[in-house]
Amino acid sequence: MPHTPTNALSPDQKIEALREELRHHEHLYYVLDAPELTDAQYDARVNELRKLEAEHPELVTPDSPTQRVGGKPKEGFAKVAHSRPMLSLDNAYNEAELRAWAERVLGGLPTGERVRYVCELKLDGLSMALQYHAGAKHEAVLKTGVTRGDGTIGEDVTSNVRTIRSVPLHVDAAKLAKAGLPQQFEVRGEVVLPQKAFEKMNADREAAGLAPAVNPRNAAAGTIRTLEPNIVAQRRLEFFAYFLLSEGEPLLPEQSTALQALRDAGFLVNKHARTVDSMDEVLEFIKKAEPLRDGLPYEIDGVVIKVDAIAQQRRLGFTGKAPRWAIAYKFPARAAITQLEDVLFQVGRTGKVTPVAALAPVFIGGTTVTRATLHNADEIARLGVRIGDFVSVERGGDVIPKITEVVEDAKHPRGTREIVFPRLCPVCGSELVRAEGEVDWRCINAVCPARVREELLHWSARGVMNIEGLGESMVAQLLGQSASLIGGEEEVAETGAPVQVTREPLVLSIADLYKLKGKRDQVLALDRVGEKTTDALLAQIERSKSAPLARVLFGLGIRFVGERTATLLAEHFGDIDALMNATADDLEAVNEVGPRVAQAIVEFFAEEKNKTLVHELQKLGLTMQAEKKVIGTTFAGLTFVLTGTLPTLTRDEAKKRIEAAGGKVSGSVSKKTSYVVAGEEAGSKLEKAQQLGVPVVDEAGLLALLG
Ligand code: IVH
Repeated sequence: MPHTPTNALSPDQKIEALREELRHHEHLYYVLDAPELTDAQYDARVNELRKLEAEHPELVTPDSPTQRVGGKPKEGFAKVAHSRPMLSLDNAYNEAELRAWAERVLGGLPTGERVRYVCELKLDGLSMALQYHAGAKHEAVLKTGVTRGDGTIGEDVTSNVRTIRSVPLHVDAAKLAKAGLPQQFEVRGEVVLPQKAFEKMNADREAAGLAPAVNPRNAAAGTIRTLEPNIVAQRRLEFFAYFLLSEGEPLLPEQSTALQALRDAGFLVNKHARTVDSMDEVLEFIKKAEPLRDGLPYEIDGVVIKVDAIAQQRRLGFTGKAPRWAIAYKFPARAAITQLEDVLFQVGRTGKVTPVAALAPVFIGGTTVTRATLHNADEIARLGVRIGDFVSVERGGDVIPKITEVVEDAKHPRGTREIVFPRLCPVCGSELVRAEGEVDWRCINAVCPARVREELLHWSARGVMNIEGLGESMVAQLLGQSASLIGGEEEVAETGAPVQVTREPLVLSIADLYKLKGKRDQVLALDRVGEKTTDALLAQIERSKSAPLARVLFGLGIRFVGERTATLLAEHFGDIDALMNATADDLEAVNEVGPRVAQAIVEFFAEEKNKTLVHELQKLGLTMQAEKKVIGTTFAGLTFVLTGTLPTLTRDEAKKRIEAAGGKVSGSVSKKTSYVVAGEEAGSKLEKAQQLGVPVVDEAGLLALLG
């Protein structure tokens, strides 16, 4: 499609032409994987559209390509009933089970009827239902995206689904006609996190000191339930369509024609799907699909086989939770045998000590594996494994492989030795404790350097308090160690002795971070730390004082309180004192907080050390305010101050958008300022806001407020 000449057109025609062009290129890029524009060319067009829309806010529609990242859900996700239950599938693990299924299919149909099958890859993600409804001009527009939930009722995660580029926000009349679709229909399919995006997400998490997600499926499920559409947009999820409904019923007479219609309508349909005439061909498909596994950019865990004709599907019907007309053939786990060379003991943020197997390197399903988790002392006992044993190692989609058993024939050869679980913390040397009824041993020394290290890394992480420059090496130095000594595996495993502290620590708790500005010279004296690094770090720490309550709660590392729960708690209680004084009953009144979470929060604040930390943080000037709620899209009565350079909006555009929503933009910060919107190189206005405790948001925050 040539770049549309827009000179002679009216603004709304220009906007429509640009949108159409962008949709075409999105489809080429994200669905057909055949881009015609460079990223820069594409971005230039998007910016052109953004600019026009900023000049004509009345022309902005929700299906515009600029509207993928919008407001965040205010009260968590609403529950929505499905038009027809979202079922799961029965599994088959071998040829015999598959053939037995095919026999049952034939048995359920009139004698002699031929059956065709559609073979599809079983994508390892989470299923999702997308509802489209009629737009103004004979097109269809994305209305809602709902998770499977319990199969009957799911969660409305539309704001996050919109950020997935392979989900069309808009299907134009020509595409609907080609696909034979009405303006109102439902598409079901799988949301997956591609391997590369998964690795990037985990690299980011690790750099920030957070525990990596165990596999792409969990990462995708966690991402789709995140309350920040911005974060979701960065994660690069994909949506593969595999089911087409209208008014709760399949729309077309075959699954194969439905897949083609979905393609014609602009959805991403997995290209490996095939229609076949016999079970022999199904088995052939499976044989070819399994080796594909290690080369695909996303995880698959089997093949789904479906009866093609919908009339036959209707006849066959359902058993309890699964259709009789489909089955999932599951691939065997990817496994190999190798030798257990050693066991290392790692101390986490909560003090939990985890045994980690050091393995002789072995190649499993595309990667070399050298580590496997042993979970806890009970697991070691259950496996009956000794150092030197040969073990079977399995890699699911998981990052950390697991040891499934000791190889019996070669069990405990000469020279193997017992795995001794340490009695003392391998990092600080204090006695480990195992609470009644729990399987884990913990170091309960609140100032154990391994624990403090994890606490600080979590606190500073991106998505938590966002303190740039406070990564692994800086934290280690602040704790008085040369970088990467603590929590490193070698020194811990060898002796179990306390790690040598090489320098007087500058920081022993989160609160100490906020006292660092009085110790500028000592920070400057650290290895490889100059004036610029020091001042940038101190400024970042200072900036984090105005982080909203939800971030602080998340940062405190209360058991079971992740980003989502923290946001719900902040919204409900408004300030930290109210939360600290809450009883378990008060807490359970919060949406999605159950007895387990409530108990953990009560226990956390019952501990003197934690109460002291919060009071200290308050004294040190952390504002801990819940983000102000904006009703609808109106900013009436709110005053904004803009400072610094925003990443995508010009100052003028930002001003227009605030004013379009009824807000005021002022040039100077005072106590009456509702928000300061800060970009790169924000100066004295930002400082003033921090002094006065005025909430500070970045561009993404502003866009989120704008809804
Ligand atoms: S069809 C009633 N097709 O596997 C039809 N499911 O184990 C149900 N899945 O919940 C789904 N790839 O999340 C279907 N090509 C595919 C699939 C697929 C992955 C997932 C889906 C489902 C689960 C069942």
